[in-house]
Amino acid sequence: MLIREAAADDWPRIWPFWHRIVAAGETYTWDPDTSEDAARQLWMSPAKRVFVVEDAAGVVVASACLTPNYGGPAARIANAGFMVDPDHGGRGIGRALAEHLLAEAKADGYRGMVFNAVVETNPAVGLWISLGFTILGTVPEAYDHPARGPVGLHIMYRAL
Ligand SMILES: CC(C)(COP(=O)(O)OP(=O)(O)OC[C@H]1O[C@@H](n2cnc3c(N)ncnc32)[C@H](O)[C@@H]1OP(=O)(O)O)[C@@H](O)C(=O)NCCC(=O)NCCS
Repeated sequence: MLIREAAADDWPRIWPFWHRIVAAGETYTWDPDTSEDAARQLWMSPAKRVFVVEDAAGVVVASACLTPNYGGPAARIANAGFMVDPDHGGRGIGRALAEHLLAEAKADGYRGMVFNAVVETNPAVGLWISLGFTILGTVPEAYDHPARGPVGLHIMYRAL
């Protein structure tokens, strides 16, 4: 498994699982119908550092992005997003990618990392807590989950 910075021509390999994850409407606050062009602008924005994970065969199996969560005097708090191709989930890729991003964020001078909207039913909540994040608060019934109805969104934080 290789974690490296993404290049622009990685996008066509990210888009299939990006679309699958967002279209499922269970984990992200983006429109499930987000077009490929809009998705590329969201994920591959010049303001973000984007990473991909390649498996041993060179297949892109995951991506993550790192960006300031706020601007101006608050620009040293990071935000990150993570997507592992569901066909490759549950094999430790997400944890390895998150540990990599935390190290990169610290090296970039960020003092902490915030996740603004973690769907409370997402199994990733357990992963983030195991990596040292805490739940600062929860916006109740903020997210219409397709199977569970209105569920909360956690704001999660970890110092770096
Ligand atoms: C969340 C996500 C990045 C985790 O990636 P992954 O490669 O499947 O996770 P890992 O294999 O590294 O597992 C990490 C831990 O989380 C737990 N976990 C992850 N996904 C899980 C799931 N769907 N169900 C149950 N547990 C899960 C595992 O038990 C594991 O615990 P362990 O390391 O103690 O064994 C991935 O499932 C994903 O891309 N989900 C859709 C997008 C998303 O939710 N992104 C995060 C938004 S906050």
